[in-house]
Amino acid sequence: MPKAQLKYLADELDKLREQKLYQKLRVLQTEQLPVADFDGHEVINLSSNNYLGLTTHPKLKERAARAVEEYGVGSGAVRTIAGTMTIHLQLEEKIAQFKQVEASVVFQSGFTANAGTVQAILGREDVIISDELNHASIIDGCRLSRAEIKIFPHKDVDACERILKEVANRSGRKLLITDGVFSMDGDIAPLPQLVELAEKYGCIMMIDDAHASGVLGRHGRGTVDHFNLHGRVDIQVGTLSKAIGVLGGYVCSTRDAIEFLYHRARPFLFSTSHPPAVAASCLAAFEVLEEEPELIEKLWSNTRFFKAGLQKLGFNTGMSETPITPVIVGDAALAHEFSRQLFEAGVFAQSIGYPTVPVGKARVRTIVTATHTEEELARALDIFESVGRKLRII
Ligand SMILES: Cc1ncc(COP(=O)(O)O)c(C=O)c1O
Repeated sequence: MPKAQLKYLADELDKLREQKLYQKLRVLQTEQLPVADFDGHEVINLSSNNYLGLTTHPKLKERAARAVEEYGVGSGAVRTIAGTMTIHLQLEEKIAQFKQVEASVVFQSGFTANAGTVQAILGREDVIISDELNHASIIDGCRLSRAEIKIFPHKDVDACERILKEVANRSGRKLLITDGVFSMDGDIAPLPQLVELAEKYGCIMMIDDAHASGVLGRHGRGTVDHFNLHGRVDIQVGTLSKAIGVLGGYVCSTRDAIEFLYHRARPFLFSTSHPPAVAASCLAAFEVLEEEPELIEKLWSNTRFFKAGLQKLGFNTGMSETPITPVIVGDAALAHEFSRQLFEAGVFAQSIGYPTVPVGKARVRTIVTATHTEEELARALDIFESVGRKLRII
């Protein structure tokens, strides 16, 4: 029996069950592999962000194991007290060099990197201009900053400029912020146009490149490199948890901006730093990006193959331009049932509904990786076809 004070939470869960929106956590029983065991089923795994297969790369595993032996399993403190280790600084130097920026700082996650940065650099008197589909961590950072938040429709550069004109004469700072690759739709931000607007209206330009790092640009340098906008984006965030295969987030900017974050970004100040094995394996991952460009090539050839296959079958893949390919079905209950039946048939593609995507835009989301074989992807397409027909989605 739930305690009386918490009964309302059980009621909320019952409502989700009635609406067929209740979701059980799938449990991974193997490593994060292209074909993996979840809940006792072997399935083709189209749900991880492990774009390059680095979660199980031998070089990363070896470096992690060595770091445990050399430095122990934990850092023992927050960065600003006793938790900055040499390996943390080496990783930050490597990231800055890779991204061709002055400096970088690593946070515990991409989420804390976004939320901690936006919260730290702005205040009540400032204004944020943000794409409507920006990630939750940006939205939370915006709210925590207490700045005024102005949302422009997804990728609508003209609407963005209208807002910038409206606020042009206001005092206070302005931040223009966008995801590089949008996590639920797999489309790419119109960064060149946004950068021009930021320059024209004197805004700080910030990008969250969580799904572009390791995917877009030379050796996976991200959206800024993809559009050749080096030096024109003030703050770049990336994660170490997706293509990099480990855990964490980072912020790239000027040395002064990074040192300011040391003093004001709350997750940096108030939460313990990464275990040394995390930093060591991330360092190895950046080496792999430079040494094994064939991984990114394979990611993109798999992406083209799978996306074209879904489209040929008649699925609605929305605006996707990257390895994230949604299959949009509209109704959330149908998306959940689609995902459930795909899983029973041997494909894991997670369903996603409101509030992660707008009402009426529910979908299953697929992400191919460099480590899928074409045979596995062809088998996945066959399963999509038979389940899609059965549910009359195609
Ligand atoms: C666009 C975007 N930004 C940030 C994050 C957060 O990254 P992390 O998982 O490293 O916290 C995610 C996903 O989790 C994301 O999709």
